Amino acid sequence: MGTALDQYGVVGHPVGHSLSPFIHGMFARETGQRISYRLYDVPPAEFHAHVRAFFAQGGRGLNVTLPHKIAAVEVAHELTPRAAWAAAVNTLAARPDGILGDNTDGAGLVRDLCDNLGLVITHRRVLVIGAGGATRGIVGPLLGLAPELLVIANRTPQRAHALATAFTELGAVRGVGFAELVDAPFDLIVNATSASLAGELPPFPPSVIGPQTVCYDLAYGSSATAFLEWATRQGCARALQGWGMLVEQAAESFRVWRGIRPDTAQVLAALKERTASV
Ligand code: ATR
Repeated sequence: MGTALDQYGVVGHPVGHSLSPFIHGMFARETGQRISYRLYDVPPAEFHAHVRAFFAQGGRGLNVTLPHKIAAVEVAHELTPRAAWAAAVNTLAARPDGILGDNTDGAGLVRDLCDNLGLVITHRRVLVIGAGGATRGIVGPLLGLAPELLVIANRTPQRAHALATAFTELGAVRGVGFAELVDAPFDLIVNATSASLAGELPPFPPSVIGPQTVCYDLAYGSSATAFLEWATRQGCARALQGWGMLVEQAAESFRVWRGIRPDTAQVLAALKERTASV
């Protein structure tokens, strides 16, 4: 009998569109790791039971995507500090004393911004739009880069205030409503709202964008998002979709599971090519 492959996968609902099997399949080939990686479409009511059964049967690790990232906090026996700050888990890993919950989203964004795109965040002015779960996952790692100021702007100002207050011990962070966004242009603007997915544009003033402003949308697709189209019309320096973050958060999950960090450049290129041809 051959040795069974170590089992991995992604749990979501729906999950059929997920690119994770493609990405982790490429990582595994590139690093010579023999693993199996599957899609698990699991409704919320069955999430905890599914995860417990997966690990009880010897599964090694899971990615967790919408709508389960918050439920995954409870199923973990232990959280990494970055998952605790994010209050959300996108990576579960089998450890000798139980299930470890981690969150690689913020690290993935930071690696894309700094390593792939060559941006400098330290002492720069950063604006994050939105104050939901996606924002919560990236604020800690962004503050770790010591920007001069990180502003969280949200349609519902109270959510931005609450999030900023929760992170004050990690750095200079302020929460505002869109109407209060009257400052000079920012160096980096990250759109972390779910508005892009609906093709909508949050109502914030064009004054946030100057010729030096880099605009990044956590969303990605075969065409530019409403936010990036708008930012380009305002004359921003660069308008970037979240492809790099997608691949880098996956690479960080792979490292948590296998102890090896795969090279991401090939995977990113393959993914863009694959999407362009769909
Ligand atoms: P996620 O986990 O994807 O962040 P979420 O927690 O539901 O999802 O948060 C969605 C974010 O997108 C929120 O900041 C939301 O603003 P509100 O807090 O005011 O609801 C923001 N959002 C969604 N649609 C929007 C729109 N059309 N314009 C502006 N902001 C929008």
